[in-house]
Amino acid sequence: MNNKAYVTTPIYYVNDVPHIGHAYTTIIADTMARYYRLKGRETYFLTGTDEHGQKIEEAAKSRNRNPQEYADEISGKFKALWDDFDISYDKFIRTTDADHKLGVQKAFKTMFDKGDIYKGDYEGHYCVSCETFFTETQLIDGDGCPDCGKPTNLVKEESYFFKLSSYQEQLLKWYHDDEQCVLPKGKKNEVISFVKQGLRDLSITRTSFDWGVKLPEEMGDPKHVMYVWLDALLNYVTALGYGKDEENMDFWPATMHLVGKDILRFHAIYWPAFLMSLGLPLPTHIAAHGWWTRNGEKMSKSKGNVVNPKEVADAYGLENFRYFMLREVPFGQDGDFSQKALIDRINSDLGNEFGNLLNRIIGMSGKYSQSAVTSKDVKALHVKELSDVEEILDGVEKKLNELQTNRYLEDLWKVLTIANGAITAHEPWVKIKNGDTDGALAVVGLVANILARVTVLVSPVMPKTSSKIAAALGFEINTESYTKLIQNRELLNDFVIEKIPPLFPRIEEEAIETPEPSTKPEVKKKKETKTKEESIITIDQFFETSLKIGTILEAEEVPKSDRLLKLKVDVGEENPRQVIAGIKEYYAPADLINTQVCIVANLKPAKIMGMLSQGMLLAAKDKDGLALMRPETPKKSGSSVG
Ligand code: MSP
Repeated sequence: MNNKAYVTTPIYYVNDVPHIGHAYTTIIADTMARYYRLKGRETYFLTGTDEHGQKIEEAAKSRNRNPQEYADEISGKFKALWDDFDISYDKFIRTTDADHKLGVQKAFKTMFDKGDIYKGDYEGHYCVSCETFFTETQLIDGDGCPDCGKPTNLVKEESYFFKLSSYQEQLLKWYHDDEQCVLPKGKKNEVISFVKQGLRDLSITRTSFDWGVKLPEEMGDPKHVMYVWLDALLNYVTALGYGKDEENMDFWPATMHLVGKDILRFHAIYWPAFLMSLGLPLPTHIAAHGWWTRNGEKMSKSKGNVVNPKEVADAYGLENFRYFMLREVPFGQDGDFSQKALIDRINSDLGNEFGNLLNRIIGMSGKYSQSAVTSKDVKALHVKELSDVEEILDGVEKKLNELQTNRYLEDLWKVLTIANGAITAHEPWVKIKNGDTDGALAVVGLVANILARVTVLVSPVMPKTSSKIAAALGFEINTESYTKLIQNRELLNDFVIEKIPPLFPRIEEEAIETPEPSTKPEVKKKKETKTKEESIITIDQFFETSLKIGTILEAEEVPKSDRLLKLKVDVGEENPRQVIAGIKEYYAPADLINTQVCIVANLKPAKIMGMLSQGMLLAAKDKDGLALMRPETPKKSGSSVG
């Protein structure tokens, strides 16, 4: 096996801030990079941002921003989040980097010189949101994008084409010969049947906007910019120095391109065809994951159901969140995000099963042997348990190598069950009572060794937590301990166990306010969407809402929240109400005391970050900020509004 490993995430569009889907791709890639390093492979891990194209140009324009400035800002947010999440990337590439642009031009010229690029006229439909060309027959209801449902534009312009059609047979041969080139299998089959339907040549330049990489100067065609997907895919080699010094090209081909299922076609068809044209080797694995949804619905800004990964990690712990994401859904399938499922995983898998095992041996060794743990009798007295553990561990890494992260973790937890079962079956406390100290200590030693092996293998998923457990068990997680404990199946050296505080404190209730998903089915076509203004209600329906004047008596910031203030509001009742309001960015708590507001008083009370909120303040928001709705002159608290 090649001792070098190269792992990539997709490069993220800068038209939007990072969300849970981006975090998912990045966390899986980070896990794989850490796993390869653990095995001693020299690893290069790339992430970055995709900054050109019509979508970004339009996003910047709609905000009255220059595209470069706008890209700088959003790209910075991605980088900051990955740094905050301790993502172990080696390079963060931006497609606006000068070196990248040079590499893209070099690749274009190489493919052109080879005869794989020709000039023609393009006529077809283009979805700006997906940055994808479609033929008329692919559209929904005449103009809808088959991928995202948004209306497409008819594009008619001069364009350079890449001879994708001439790579059809070579691609099919690759899928056939290299079983693992596209993962998981089901997704690979979809790619194969798409290619078998016939590939058309691909339009790879645009002339109707200019936010992109220009053609190489020697082509003498300055009005063309590269198609954003050609530009973007090439990042995987320009990051290694392609077209410049080739400094890190010895990491090529990529071991693992991690992508979402929506962009598999670009990676499993266009990208290998470009590579064939460039004469470069093909990636070892292109692995496509599914989507995170909420209540089965796609997340979108307009539905207000997007989950902010930073908020989740802050509220529940980054590594718990990583474990949840990798354990909860089979790789390749969609998964539904819910705080309840996350809490269950933390309390049950992590707290009751993983953490508790450590607590149990801390307790037992404390009582039996002043915290000293030995492996001396483990092999002799626990042959069966050790062989059961080894049987599972024999097949477990294959699962991770195939990205079956949920099955990988599931198997590691089966190993933990063997340890728990051993405690129950061998009752070390009875052994101690009967004077069999060696027997009791062998059970503790067995459990410590099982825990150590699981900890090493779980470390790519939960690096910091695993290091803490390893330290308590007297070793460090690194390639050496991986080789010793996992590959050579050696046992731990004797050590004195360190008492550490519980790693997975129990969580009793949901800790963050996540937007409630809409219950309506997703509305695909723009024309069917009703705005609030269009949906008429009766006066009776309006009066079902109780609006009252309230006077703010107390206001304080909610710790760990960027948005929330906790208010006590007098609405003319015996006790003031507690209202949790998302206005922290706009009002200082002190400025709110004794001011009046308008409150929705008959809203079902809700828990926000674990705090009861008994009402909602009315406010208006536009691009300049937010303003609370207040009576023009002071009114008695509790006066009704309407
Ligand atoms: N810029 C392109 C990728 C170019 S790679 C040469 C792009 N960017 S993206 O920002 O739109 O998406 C990046 C990744 O986020 C994709 O892998 C996509 O699948 C993933 N996700 C976006 N929303 C998602 C979910 N709701 N759930 C899981 N992942 C999803 O595409």
